Amino acid sequence: MNKLSIVGAGIVGEAAAQIIARDELCRELVLMDVQGEMAKGKALDVWQAAVESGSDTRVHGGGHAELLQGSELVVITAGVPRKPGQSRQDVLATNLPILDGIMADIKHHAPAATVLVVSNPVDVLTYRAWSLSGQGRNKVFGQAGVLDTARMKCFIAEQTGFSARDITALVLGGHGDSMVPLMRYCQIGSVPLSHFLSGEQIEQIVERTRKGGGEILGLKKLGSACDAPGVAIAQMVDAIANGRNRILPAVAILQGEYGRKDIAMGVPCVLAEEGLARVIELPLDTQEQAMFDQSADQVARDIAEMKAL
Ligand code: LAC
Repeated sequence: MNKLSIVGAGIVGEAAAQIIARDELCRELVLMDVQGEMAKGKALDVWQAAVESGSDTRVHGGGHAELLQGSELVVITAGVPRKPGQSRQDVLATNLPILDGIMADIKHHAPAATVLVVSNPVDVLTYRAWSLSGQGRNKVFGQAGVLDTARMKCFIAEQTGFSARDITALVLGGHGDSMVPLMRYCQIGSVPLSHFLSGEQIEQIVERTRKGGGEILGLKKLGSACDAPGVAIAQMVDAIANGRNRILPAVAILQGEYGRKDIAMGVPCVLAEEGLARVIELPLDTQEQAMFDQSADQVARDIAEMKAL
């Protein structure tokens, strides 16, 4: 990939930039923020760190939208984070106009770019970004499930004592308390999780995963998670930049899959050179479908609230 831009040089944008630059996932990396000088400073720091790791990715930053010119991929991390006790939807009123402004900048300076939305509430803002973009759903999608899945893997590793390397997990639905961990599809070394853990233990893991972002926020107080979200972004960027055809969960616009239309939800997707190549529709049992519907209803209400603003 030639050029990638990250809009929002907060802690998540910076964490993602560090990995993207270190791993040379693009030739040119822009870190853009309304606080232009701060973004410039962070970009210099990230560039110098990358050089220390032997990377030739050129990193620069600033506050002008012209910096986006020619970007093949734009990652949006801008916006205010939640405060302890707030839900992701509570930051909607602040983050919506920020996202709208960024989409206008992208349309003007990099209209063909693929857009990866990370800012919260991510399901609603992904839907908004897609609506404003005029692009197909393959070009506009969001990050949530890679992070949620990583969290679940941690908790499974902790509970079972097995290597996290052998754990596969899958999370669907909205990024929030209504997310739908699909425990039937979780395995350790190809063995179903239910072989090792009781229903009650699995339920505890599900609950902790749902509240995983809030747990960190409650402890850090002044800021949300940033390191794991940064790695999650870099994984998705890597899948696209290297055309890997990876199956990863992403926030996608549904077009009838899982019985839903005109909504952005976390589902397993194929990430490839062209972006989100396709949505994978898994057969859900009655209970899973009910959980998915509940989550979708919540996201639909959140989208309606956004449209009313
Ligand atoms: C989290 C926030 C960033 O899940 O959505 O940590």
